[in-house]
Amino acid sequence: MSEPQPLVKIRNLKMHFPVYRGVFVRREVNRVRAVDGLNFDIYQGETLGLVGESGCGKSTTGRAIIQLYRPTDGEVIFEGKNLCDLEEKELHPLRRDLQMIFQDPYASLNPRMTVGDIIAEPLRVHNLASGRKRRERVQELMEIVGLDPRFIRRYPHEFSGGQRQRIGIARALACEPRFIVCDEPISALDVSIQAQIMNLMEDLQKEFDLTFLFIAHDLAAVRHISDRIAVMYLGRLAELADGEELYANPLHPYTEALMSAVPIPDPEIERQREQIVLEGDVPSPLNPPSGCVFHTRCPYAWDRCKMETPAFEEATDGHLVACHLLDQPERRKRRGAGQTQNEKAAPEVEDADDGASPEKGAVVEQSTPAVEAES
Ligand SMILES: Nc1ncnc2c1ncn2[C@@H]1O[C@H](COP(=O)(O)OP(=O)(O)OP(=O)(O)O)[C@@H](O)[C@H]1O
Ligand code: SF4
Ligand SMILES: [Mg+2]
Repeated sequence: MSEPQPLVKIRNLKMHFPVYRGVFVRREVNRVRAVDGLNFDIYQGETLGLVGESGCGKSTTGRAIIQLYRPTDGEVIFEGKNLCDLEEKELHPLRRDLQMIFQDPYASLNPRMTVGDIIAEPLRVHNLASGRKRRERVQELMEIVGLDPRFIRRYPHEFSGGQRQRIGIARALACEPRFIVCDEPISALDVSIQAQIMNLMEDLQKEFDLTFLFIAHDLAAVRHISDRIAVMYLGRLAELADGEELYANPLHPYTEALMSAVPIPDPEIERQREQIVLEGDVPSPLNPPSGCVFHTRCPYAWDRCKMETPAFEEATDGHLVACHLLDQPERRKRRGAGQTQNEKAAPEVEDADDGASPEKGAVVEQSTPAVEAES
């Protein structure tokens, strides 16, 4: 079998949002470092899961890759071209290949357009079909995603949440793309509908040889669908590995903590296993911590972590990690280790002789850093 080839190469990708102050004279006073130097490849035909807490930069990453946001720095290589260098005119034909499915099917569809017009829009923008041909293609797309083509003149509000997401998927498929960013496509849907949409996406991937970047909040949500999984924290990648390998052998302390929060169906194992607790909130991307951005919450952190940014490097074949424990494995002695699900009290924390002395007892949580662009 031939080696999988990268479809998209991402190099040192940065997306910073400037923060301005002043009414008459606006000046940049700071930057939200939403994405701050990502390096990874996305292989042809794979599903790469991207997980991390709210506000860590997942959506920004997806949008920057397909150039919905023009990145501050770095490269996105697709078809041998760096998309970040291209003018809008040069980018336009490539946009056909790069599509997005949005989290909220309610907000992402124009309520004043019929389903037919919504799905036809990319065909119109890229001048791919007109008149009867366009209408036939729209009907074909509706059938592909499991919608009744007779509803072509209906409006989004006449459909259920799951059907609306199918409309979004049909729109993304219209131009026969090669790469689709799926930004939490099922998280706004009822649990009963989620499996149907996941199955549909898997079928479509096989049928049309699609490549997905599949964004989700937690590891449980991407386990089933992903070939490889990337874990993101505060604008950087913490770890990236084959799905099976990541679940069996999480190397980054953040992945380890996320993994311990994934529920296990067996109540006995669930009771006995250790729940790793993370300290504090996710810091603000306006002022990320020095060195390793995870050091303020990491149960292993020592002085080096505060000063030196760990490289994102290969631990084993195809398993990449950004952590100093890689070359100092003897440091992998967690403060407060040994807490099981039954022991909900704050963990015993050894006195940190290494400077990192965070608060105790906060659980892994979804928190959004308060970031406001002032004017
Ligand atoms: N247009 C923007 N202007 C300024 N800041 C932004 C903008 N878009 C995103 N951000 C900030 O960038 C950071 C990353 O946001 P992003 O939406 O990418 O996170 P996320 O991981 O997708 O979160 P969620 O899981 O909640 O969707 C956040 O701090 C957010 O407030
Ligand atoms: S580099 Fe240090 S702070 Fe960062 S994850 Fe590794 S041990 Fe924790
Ligand atoms: Mg998001």
